[in-house]
Formats: sequence, structure tokens, C-alpha cells
Amino acid sequence: MDYLFIFMLKVIDYDNVKTLVQSFWTLLNITLLAFFTNIYSLSAQVSKRQQIPIPENINSIFQTSCMPCHGIKGGRLPKGRLNFSRWAGYGAVKEAEKASLICSVLRKGAMPPKKARESHPELIPSKEQIDIICGWAETLKPKNRKK
Ligand code: HEC
Repeated sequence: MDYLFIFMLKVIDYDNVKTLVQSFWTLLNITLLAFFTNIYSLSAQVSKRQQIPIPENINSIFQTSCMPCHGIKGGRLPKGRLNFSRWAGYGAVKEAEKASLICSVLRKGAMPPKKARESHPELIPSKEQIDIICGWAETLKPKNRKK
């Protein structure tokens, strides 16, 4: 009689463990699913053209010539100086400052960097493109905004 009782206990125990394992497994699956869904949507974002609040004609120059280094996929050094992915959060003052800085490095021929200009001349913006960018930078200046 005692023996049977212990046996039954074991059966119950086993069932408990089974439920436990099952619920753990379900939980793990849900977590994994959420994780991969996240990664998937992230990579979808990266492959999409980055949306930045800059006029389209200017944005397209940046996309071609600058984003490889100054966008989401860029390195730490260039992104630390200028990160187009953060442009939306810059605010009017910083936008104006960065735009003026961009105009000045382009006028000097300092960007893209010398090495990149040599290996990828197609990245170099034309004189006309630089004029367009500098004109845009001018419109962002506080004195011009107020008008
Ligand atoms: C091959 C990579 C690369 C490309 C392409 C590139 N840059 Fe840069 N950029 C850098 C690096 C690296 C730095 C930081 C080092 C430095 O200031 O020289 C930098 C710095 C800058 C700075 C900050 C300069 C300062 O004095 O603080 C500006 C502005 C800039 N880049 C604008 C541009 C613009 C505009 C383009 C596109 C026309 C561009 N860059 C394309 C690599 C790149």
C-alpha cells in the first residue's frame, strides 16, 4: 500500500515537471520569436533608404556621397562628428551649425576624405551640388529663418 502511494506521488511529480518544462519551452519560444522579429524589422530599416528631414535634392547627394560613413552603417569616427541618422533630433540651431560645417568642408574639398576620393571618385560631389548644399545651409541660419 505504501509502495503504491509513493509510486503515485512520483507520477504526479513527473507530470508537474512536464508542465513546467512545457511552459518554459513555450516562454522560450515566445522570447526567441520576439527577438528575431525585432532583428528582422531592424534589418528592414537598415536596408531601406534612411529618412532624414532634409530636402530631397540635397538628401540624395548626402545619401550617395556621405551616408556610407556618416549614416547608420558608418564608423565611429565619422558618425561622432556628423551623423545623418541623428539629424531629425538636432534641432534648428545644431542643424544650422552642421549644415554650415558641411558647406565649409565641401568647399575646402576636405570631404569625402582624401583616401576615399582617390579610391571612390564617384563619391565626390560636383561643384553644382556643393553650391546647392551651401545655399541650403544659408537658409537654415537663424537670421534667414526668422524672415
Ligand atoms: C570614407 C568615409 C567618409 C565619407 C564618404 C565622408 N566622410 Fe565626412 N568624415 C569622415 C571621417 C573619418 C571624419 C572624421 C575625421 C575628420 O574630421 O577628418 C569625417 C568628418 C566630417 C565632418 C566633421 C568635420 C569637422 O571638422 O568636425 C563633416 C562636416 C563631414 N565629415 C561631412 C561629410 C560630407 C558632407 C560628406 C559627403 C559629401 C562626407 N563627410 C563623406 C569620413 C567620411
